[in-house]
Amino acid sequence: MKEASPRTIRLKDYQPPDYLIETVDLSFDLREQGTRVVSRLAIKRNPQGKGGALKLNGEGLEPVWTRLNGSEMSADHYRIDEESLTLLDPPEAFVLESEVIIAPEKNTALEGLYRSGGMFCTQCEPEGFRKITWFLDRPDVMACFTVRLEADKAQYPVLLSNGNPRESGDLADGRHYAVWDDPIPKPSYLFALVAGDLRYIEDSHSTPSGRTVQLRLYVEPENIDKCDHAMRSLINAMRWDEEKYGREYDLDVYNVVAVNDFNMGAMENKGLNVFNSKYVLARADTATDTDFLGIEGVIGHEYFHNWTGNRITCRDWFQLSLKEGFTVFRDQEFSADMGARGVKRIEDVRMLRAHQFAEDASPMAHPIRPDSYIEINNFYTLTVYEKGAEVVRMQANLLGPELFRKATDLYFERHDGQAVTTEDFVRCMADASGKDLGQMQHWYDYAGTPQVKVQSEYDPEAQTFALTFEQSVPDTPGQTNKPPFLIPIVTGLVGADGDDLSVSLEAGGETATEHTLQLTQAKQQYVFHGVAQKPVPSLLRGFSAPVNLDYGYADDDLMFLMAHDSDGFNRWDAAQTLVRRVLLGMVQQYQDGVEMLVPDGVLEAFRRSLLDEQAQPALVAEVLALPSIGYLGDFMETVDIDGLHLARETLRAMIGRELDRELNDTYAALQEAGEYQPTPQAIGRRSLKNRVLGYLASASLAGEELCRQQYLAQHNMTDVMAALALIADGDHAAREEVLADFESRWRRDALVMDKWFGVQAMSNRSDTLDRVKALMQHHAFSMHNPNKVRALIGAFANANPVRFHAADGSGYEFLKKRVLELDPANPQIAARLVRALSRWRRYDEDRQAKMRAVLEAIVAIKVSKDVYEIASKSLDGG
Ligand code: TRP
Ligand code: ZN
Repeated sequence: MKEASPRTIRLKDYQPPDYLIETVDLSFDLREQGTRVVSRLAIKRNPQGKGGALKLNGEGLEPVWTRLNGSEMSADHYRIDEESLTLLDPPEAFVLESEVIIAPEKNTALEGLYRSGGMFCTQCEPEGFRKITWFLDRPDVMACFTVRLEADKAQYPVLLSNGNPRESGDLADGRHYAVWDDPIPKPSYLFALVAGDLRYIEDSHSTPSGRTVQLRLYVEPENIDKCDHAMRSLINAMRWDEEKYGREYDLDVYNVVAVNDFNMGAMENKGLNVFNSKYVLARADTATDTDFLGIEGVIGHEYFHNWTGNRITCRDWFQLSLKEGFTVFRDQEFSADMGARGVKRIEDVRMLRAHQFAEDASPMAHPIRPDSYIEINNFYTLTVYEKGAEVVRMQANLLGPELFRKATDLYFERHDGQAVTTEDFVRCMADASGKDLGQMQHWYDYAGTPQVKVQSEYDPEAQTFALTFEQSVPDTPGQTNKPPFLIPIVTGLVGADGDDLSVSLEAGGETATEHTLQLTQAKQQYVFHGVAQKPVPSLLRGFSAPVNLDYGYADDDLMFLMAHDSDGFNRWDAAQTLVRRVLLGMVQQYQDGVEMLVPDGVLEAFRRSLLDEQAQPALVAEVLALPSIGYLGDFMETVDIDGLHLARETLRAMIGRELDRELNDTYAALQEAGEYQPTPQAIGRRSLKNRVLGYLASASLAGEELCRQQYLAQHNMTDVMAALALIADGDHAAREEVLADFESRWRRDALVMDKWFGVQAMSNRSDTLDRVKALMQHHAFSMHNPNKVRALIGAFANANPVRFHAADGSGYEFLKKRVLELDPANPQIAARLVRALSRWRRYDEDRQAKMRAVLEAIVAIKVSKDVYEIASKSLDGG
């Protein structure tokens, strides 16, 4: 808990460190009550710094002693306060030794050294190391670490830290020790240790240069049979980075540990990744396809950080997207290469549009390189990660594969071992390609999703087709009148037969079927020549820039693109645009008190997609997915949750009834025989099958019965969860029985129970909030476990708009209580929950008042700076 009005940290105040730390020797005496940490730091003045006093970070440390060059320091040479140890007049170069006592057993914030179940583990990014010992806890101070761990041997047989193992042995009193050396300099946020009673599976990988790396995945004993997929993913990731980026691993061992209590997905600590067990453990009967794909992606992500994050790190936390944006782009491409590229892109864009666009339009909007923050933990956002990845993707596409590889080679060569900025990254892209990427920088500096309005004009005589683009970037808190961005728009002109026309951008110029238009001005026109017939333009193919594009397509044009666009992404996007229009039209009809109707041809277009034998099942499933309430709401003046919900349910049931025969046939044809396989083809078939089941369930009792049958078959967790979610959502007669059955099967598996909590929290039933409250008392629930909080409370607040936004404000009141209850224990997770209220201005007056009242009540109380920042900015920013 911090003082009422916390300090804002600004990028413009960045100063290089006055001192550097060359080596770090740590020694941990791990105990149930009070752990002792002895540290020995070799410090020297930074030639780039100003010298003077040296302020080391430290929070919640109980000092035992401090020595400078071997002698106890006298009181007039240092000061200790709540958050620092200041040496008033340190020499040029010296050794600082200290001992402190910390209390991991009391650490509920899960930052620094803490206990999870029976083990000790750490989470230091971004500023957790200062809760372990005195240090310059900032990413531009990189040092070589040696770590000695000592603990009870029976309770903690496994002792791990970063780098390579050096020695280990037994000690008196049933204790033992291990020493780890990390030869590669790293910032403190990459430090990690783990001690516990763990089992491991082992494999190895040989790098192109001939190094053999021992790979181990450590888990609690009961989970040892759920590790194979993660190990396979790791080996695939290592090979992929060698092939695609020429990067290989640099230590003798690579260890991954799964822990149950973890604030985020996983952490890339050098040589010792710590993972939320959700992103490691998978077996056909316990994990869904989404879980399998999530594990592959996150294992890849953390592995890729070894080069993009660890060897080349961030100068300061404003540069977070340097490592996160690039690494997300890398993991997206890895997943695309391992699986179904087209589907992966659609899913990434669906997520970006539904959640990152919302953040970019909220009071919390910030550039991918923010210029101020109160609490850096609040900036591990979709903007920094996902929009950051889009910005890297645009550069990769502008350069093309060869030049992009040349540019990344340059980046790795030029900056290895350094702590750098996003400008350094863009400079490598520019230097290697010779391209002027000056305007690219705006994407890093300004928040908000650019709007691009497009108009067209066809001249049959001149055989020209003109496209006029107008771009604008909306105002966001603290930023107005933004300059035009560099926006690449990949464009094709589709002729009547469905083929792309071969056209040129200059009369008589070279023709091509696809052009990348690089917008640089507020308004810009392109004229295509040699256009023999009036085309339908296919714009922003592959989602070539993270913008909102607005072109006045006729419904017929969209149906035409759905059927014919050579770009798979745009076939899907045409369907999304069409359905979005249909649904928004239905909401209007609902508000006007008239019958909800679907325009002619729309159901036919769906029927055609469903019956298209050429199309991959996974892509058909994406086409048939209705846009979310959250995404649709962004196209309304005032979000009408009830109207949107009713429109979606009405359309869903209509499709279910109209296409009943085709849906039933498809469902039957997609039944799978044999063992569960998480291959792209099998995943795609299940995804279509379960999408179809959703329509069938909403249309008839027979459909509901199919859900029950699919649940009872227990073929794999994907099918079980798809059926369970549909059953839990409605008034199915077997609802309670099925939920009870699931609970009794899985009561001892924490991750599977999260799914059970989740489907109940997301149910549209009117009794959901009462049910959620009751489930908080369930023996498997705990407010101290972030996965549980996300599964029950996070799911209710973020994935159940109908019930969270109940008109009586009960959802908001519930959230307020949970935030205030959680904040003292775990401010990071509490602050994430508050975000559900940040877009309060988007709702009707009554809901606005209720949401605002909750935010005001929160800032009026003494809360953490994490929660304070989100709540106060939500109230201020408009
Ligand atoms: N760097 C981690 C990642 O790539 C993010 C992370 C893990 C994190 N744990 C955290 C960030 C705790 C803040 C706090 O995905
Ligand atoms: Zn990351």
